[in-house]
Amino acid sequence: MKINQKLEDAINKQINAELYSAYLYLGMSARCTEMNLKGMAHWLYVQAQEEMTHAMKFYRFVLDRSGHPVMPAIEGVSTDWKAPVEMFAAAYEHEKKVTAMINNIVDIALAERDHATASMLNWFVDEQVEEEANSSEITEKLKLIGESKDGLFMLDKELSVRVFVDSTLPAGPAQP
Ligand code: FEO
Repeated sequence: MKINQKLEDAINKQINAELYSAYLYLGMSARCTEMNLKGMAHWLYVQAQEEMTHAMKFYRFVLDRSGHPVMPAIEGVSTDWKAPVEMFAAAYEHEKKVTAMINNIVDIALAERDHATASMLNWFVDEQVEEEANSSEITEKLKLIGESKDGLFMLDKELSVRVFVDSTLPAGPAQP
């Protein structure tokens, strides 16, 4: 069944927001690389990759439901962050905004009785809990670390092990 216009508009807006998120995290990753915080740069790069997969999930859904993706400009981002704590605090604030946007689309889907869209959005509702928790936890750790170089070094190491998982691929073992 073709997606209705209201939902199509909201999801198109979300595609742009997810691509903006990828851009935002890529800018932060670049800054961390410049600061020699390679673990944080890696973590943020993986986050940027994840955001691309979020955009692609919405993009494919619009096409699958015979909608029309629109591609307006993606807003520019900063690459001039002063400190990691500033970046991760901004990331947390950003994720709270994304959660509100997702919740708003859920509200529209329920009002329109579009169960397919509501079902697709469930994944994002769950994902946003993790997105907020991750950025909040790292921000709080950075606040605790304060000016400690040792603490920063240890956290940087901890964040270097993040593995990118492409959530757009089907679950199960890889096909030969
Ligand atoms: Fe795709 Fe970080 O929300």
